Amino acid sequence: MNFDRHRRLRRTSFMRDMVRETHLRTEDLIYPIFVVEKPDVKAEIPSMKGIYQISLNLLKEELDEVVKLGIKSVVFFGIPNHKDPEGSGAYHDHGIVQEACRLSKQLYPELLVILDTCLCEYTDHGHCGLIDPVTKDVDNDASLPLLVQTAVSQAKAGADIIAPSNMMDGFVAHIRQGLDEAGFSHIPIMSYGIKYASKFYGPFRDAAESTPSFGDRRTYQMDPANRLEALRELESDELEGADMMIVKPALSYLDIIRDVRNESNLPVVAYNVSGEYAMTRTAIDMGLLDEEVIAEQMISMKRAGADMIITYFAKELAEKINKGEI
Ligand code: PBG
Repeated sequence: MNFDRHRRLRRTSFMRDMVRETHLRTEDLIYPIFVVEKPDVKAEIPSMKGIYQISLNLLKEELDEVVKLGIKSVVFFGIPNHKDPEGSGAYHDHGIVQEACRLSKQLYPELLVILDTCLCEYTDHGHCGLIDPVTKDVDNDASLPLLVQTAVSQAKAGADIIAPSNMMDGFVAHIRQGLDEAGFSHIPIMSYGIKYASKFYGPFRDAAESTPSFGDRRTYQMDPANRLEALRELESDELEGADMMIVKPALSYLDIIRDVRNESNLPVVAYNVSGEYAMTRTAIDMGLLDEEVIAEQMISMKRAGADMIITYFAKELAEKINKGEI
């Protein structure tokens, strides 16, 4: 009888290591950090156990830990003291993420700092751009100059990578031109151009205090039912000059990560969002799942085609990678 013996390659641990196709490295991990403008705060986010809002004067401790674990990049999200309809805190030269970036660059010049270019954490209405007074919808073209200003102030603060997540049409082209004109043609854009209007962002909005006060984000973020639309977003972002593409969320969108990997030669980033973190964290903490599911989820994103992963699990993953457990 002739049949294939697949089990030959699964017989011992070393054999399985040898034929493993997908790997997770500390270099793949990007760790999100929420920085608050108020001093002396280190407050755990109720819906995201183990993740904190941290003041600048307490940030060093967190960065020390990240660097010691061998994590090579972080993304800062800001919680400002002051919010207004124009989101002016986003493009203030001494805004909260700009200052977090400066501090990080002073302490650890090599640690890659990614800054999220969006207005929603800074607007009093919680939307990602300016509101048109007549339609009450986000005004695409009026928001673009403010987003450009935000990106330029972030680059001036020393950001290594600009990551716009606002989902306005034309944001990559405008930000690219703005950065080039300000002398930052060497700074890459990691575009969040494939961002779905997802309920998995709930805990992030608690953490960043950025829940929209009216309406939702469905006129600018993508419909979870659509796949070809992601490829249209990819196409325009590539033409406009994106250097890397984020797909967000990750776990319910592994097919989209694979599509982007197949259609593009750009590095692909999976954003393992707050709701995905909260679900997995809770199930582990309740004893329903073994903590090894975390690595399994990360491997699934890499197997789908992601090169890097933005994840709130970065620290515990790095610890396991360093111990040789992953
Ligand atoms: C800002 C932004 C959001 C996330 C990252 N950048 C929130 C949103 O669009 O509501 C979500 C990240 C997460 O859930 O972990 N536009």
